[in-house]
Amino acid sequence: CGIVGYIGNKQAYPILIKGLQRLEYRGYDSAGIALIHGDKLSVYKAKGKVSDLVQFAEQKDIEGTIGIAHTRWATHGEPNQVNAHPHYSQSEELALIHNGIIENYAVLKEGLTKHGYTFSSQTDTEVLVQLIEYIKKSNEVNLTTAVQLALNQVVGAYAIAVIEKGHPDVIVAARKGSPLVVGIGDDEFFLASDATPIVEFTDQVVYVGDEEVVTLQRGKQLKIKTIGNVEKTPEIKKLEMTLSQLEKGGYPHFMIKEIFEQPKTLADSMRGRVNVDENNITLAGFIDNKEKFLNAKRIIITACGTSWHSALIGKYAIEEFARIPVEVEYSSEFRYRKPVIHEDDIVIAISQSGETADTLAAVELAKSKGAFIFGICNVVGSSIPRNTHSGCYTHAGPEIGVASTKAFTAQVTVLTMLAMMIGKEKGTLSQEDYLKIVYELARIPEKIGVILKQDSTIAEFAKTFTYAQNFIYLGRGYNFPVALEGALKLKEISYIHAEGYPAAEMKHGPIALISQEMPVVVIATSAGMYEKVVSNIQEIKARKGRIISIVTDGDEVVSNLSDHIISIPDTEECLVPLLAAIPLQLLAYHIAVVKGCDVDQPRNLAKSVTVE
Ligand code: G6P
Repeated sequence: CGIVGYIGNKQAYPILIKGLQRLEYRGYDSAGIALIHGDKLSVYKAKGKVSDLVQFAEQKDIEGTIGIAHTRWATHGEPNQVNAHPHYSQSEELALIHNGIIENYAVLKEGLTKHGYTFSSQTDTEVLVQLIEYIKKSNEVNLTTAVQLALNQVVGAYAIAVIEKGHPDVIVAARKGSPLVVGIGDDEFFLASDATPIVEFTDQVVYVGDEEVVTLQRGKQLKIKTIGNVEKTPEIKKLEMTLSQLEKGGYPHFMIKEIFEQPKTLADSMRGRVNVDENNITLAGFIDNKEKFLNAKRIIITACGTSWHSALIGKYAIEEFARIPVEVEYSSEFRYRKPVIHEDDIVIAISQSGETADTLAAVELAKSKGAFIFGICNVVGSSIPRNTHSGCYTHAGPEIGVASTKAFTAQVTVLTMLAMMIGKEKGTLSQEDYLKIVYELARIPEKIGVILKQDSTIAEFAKTFTYAQNFIYLGRGYNFPVALEGALKLKEISYIHAEGYPAAEMKHGPIALISQEMPVVVIATSAGMYEKVVSNIQEIKARKGRIISIVTDGDEVVSNLSDHIISIPDTEECLVPLLAAIPLQLLAYHIAVVKGCDVDQPRNLAKSVTVE
């Protein structure tokens, strides 16, 4: 879900709506806004996207210089107008927006019901606003104190913002687990789940910490107190993000813009790290923690979704170059299944957003067991980097399209650099191989540029696959996780069921699905187990599957066996994923576009899953 708030001299409505649009990638099944104008506190909500809210609200009174707004990704209660945020308290004196989950909401609700409170929605959020009102009235305290006291009774994760009728000069907000950023302008404050709605107004931000309550008061300095009433000094940070990074820049969708950005984002990821003249890699995150990495008995990588796929590629690289055993874990499984974690383990958490609730919880768990925690994240200043011992940013810039593309390749780049540095220092990666890979790594951005030139060819043959109900993606070795990622991209945005498989495993099940109806995407590049993959392709061919192959430039054998080919430049085996992923991203994109799907905001998904 996305949260926005504004208090200052300007009209709040346009700022809040624009902010919601920037945050829409975090959830988009309903949206709402609360404004204070004179002595009125109005709440407007609509099912659907922010554009639906705009249509609804524009006929109403949208005046006011203070307001809060929300775009929702449903957890409790279906996405409809009643369950949308903001929620009123019983007396309609308070309006609150919430991101996260109140786990003990049922108990709290029962208590409030005994005090005569009734509820109009099925949400946990409504319980919280009623609780704040109840505490405020029964203890005769101000809003900040009521929020502090209420949050002491709450179990769960939250980022909230609340405003009060008759008090047009104050917004109170708080967080635990779910992200919240305050922007500080000239006599004005902004509030948001991440910095994207704030960046066009100010570059001065404060990241709200866990269990902190912030009071944004017109004409006053920002006040921060913990829920236990300890005062904190706001730590003001400067945002590095630029506005143009948040716009489509002439592309029809963010996703295609982000796919095309990859030559640049990978160069950014390597900037200052890969030195072509000296044929060397320097990764500060490694150098600062060299001893830890060199002595590690085991590395555990924890992540979700696309980041989990890059973790698998990282495993292959770390095991090959650094000879350290690596386990790759889904954060949601890892955190709950009583994993064995030792003090000399390194736990690497990979996350584009740096906010994924399960990955954050996995970090906390591993930290509590004494492991060394290393983050690989994209969003600077997000929760995971702030909760890890050390780490590396991927520097891919803001990723807005819900389906991850440039963040994935940047994660793989960072993991490869890390694996190479450990291997080189340990002596498990020969100097000769190291130099070859450094040389090739530096050429990846340019090679991606070459692949992108085939965009229109891919768009053309994508049209012939809109009939498909299923797809299979196959790859071996480093290309197996790429197959998983290719399948994930397709299912996320085109709603075609797709499965990624290790090519040789196909014989143990998926081969039963193959017929002339079934498109099979095979990554059959020359680096890796080429001959073995060719045999797998023969097996598909014999069963009349439609074959789309990713091959290395100059390939003839696989080309002759395939219905469509996309060729990519040759490179070192461990770097093939960085190239092979690109045509798969394009293929998924174009199939989804021809099918008329909402590419940037696919149904039911959210970019940043801040609930478990
Ligand atoms: C969501 C997104 C995916 C992403 C996953 C993990 O499911 O839609 O694109 O891969 O979360 O997100 P993270 O920010 O932790 O990488």
